[in-house]
Amino acid sequence: MSAHTNHSTTEQTSRQPILETEGLTKKFGTLTAVNNVSLTVSPDTISSIIGPNGAGKTTLFNLFTGAFGPTRGEIRFKGKDIAGTSPHSIVRQGIVRSYQITNFFDELTALENIRLAAQAPYTGFRARDFTKHYTAVDQAMEDAHRILERIELDHVAEQTASSLSYGQRRHLEIGISLASDPDLLLMDEPTAGMSPEETNEAVELVEEIAADTTLIIIEHDMEIVMDISDQINVMNDGELLASGTADEIRNDERVQKAYLGTGDE
Ligand SMILES: Nc1ncnc2c1ncn2[C@@H]1O[C@H](COP(=O)(O)OP(=O)(O)OP(=O)(O)O)[C@@H](O)[C@H]1O
Ligand SMILES: [Mg+2]
Repeated sequence: MSAHTNHSTTEQTSRQPILETEGLTKKFGTLTAVNNVSLTVSPDTISSIIGPNGAGKTTLFNLFTGAFGPTRGEIRFKGKDIAGTSPHSIVRQGIVRSYQITNFFDELTALENIRLAAQAPYTGFRARDFTKHYTAVDQAMEDAHRILERIELDHVAEQTASSLSYGQRRHLEIGISLASDPDLLLMDEPTAGMSPEETNEAVELVEEIAADTTLIIIEHDMEIVMDISDQINVMNDGELLASGTADEIRNDERVQKAYLGTGDE
């Protein structure tokens, strides 16, 4: 497993959180999927969200991206309350979610897919931005090449997305997220369905991305979680059971009882 050096704690505490929730709650009818969650994410860190199936992890992401409005509570991103803000506006403010569901164009090349995604932030979709397109195309092409290198797909730049391996397609999805230049990237089970080799590559990529983007990851593989996380948030039954470093979480009795002890999956 790779050697990620956790960021300095003193540095973290001296800085404003990039994301902060307070009493965040989401109900679906009588079911409380996210229950009174108050958590803090420091900039330039990797945070994990772990917990059994149905614990509310993905729902939490859906609240961060604006897919759902909270039933109650606050979400502050870079100091600003974003609860109830539209998904489109939240992306522009810098929260991007990497989807497992492939949302790229199979018949376009890896490079073309990234370039299309990279162009959106420059041009927007409004008619009055149309003249920006000229410079945007060059800029987007530059960005696309840089991103392809970063996700280690530069050697398959001219191959169609459909011809890439499963692992490569997952890298491409991450590349498309990076094209929006996120300040906070959310990844829901980035290693799901991967072979051990693909998993190692994905973990390396995650750590590389974390060098200049804050990451929140939902991950079931405890070895990966313990290895890469600056902070681990344990959810159970909609509630935030504990937050802390890998050591703090390992030694937390409530976590052991509710989650680790029972053996996930
Ligand atoms: N759109 C929805 N409508 C109704 N109930 C929902 C909806 N989304 C999630 N739920 C319910 O909320 C609870 C939390 O679900 P969520 O998907 O957030 O769990 P999770 O921790 O991501 O689980 P998993 O590890 O299986 O992905 C579950 O009981 C789920 O059935
Ligand atoms: Mg989930």
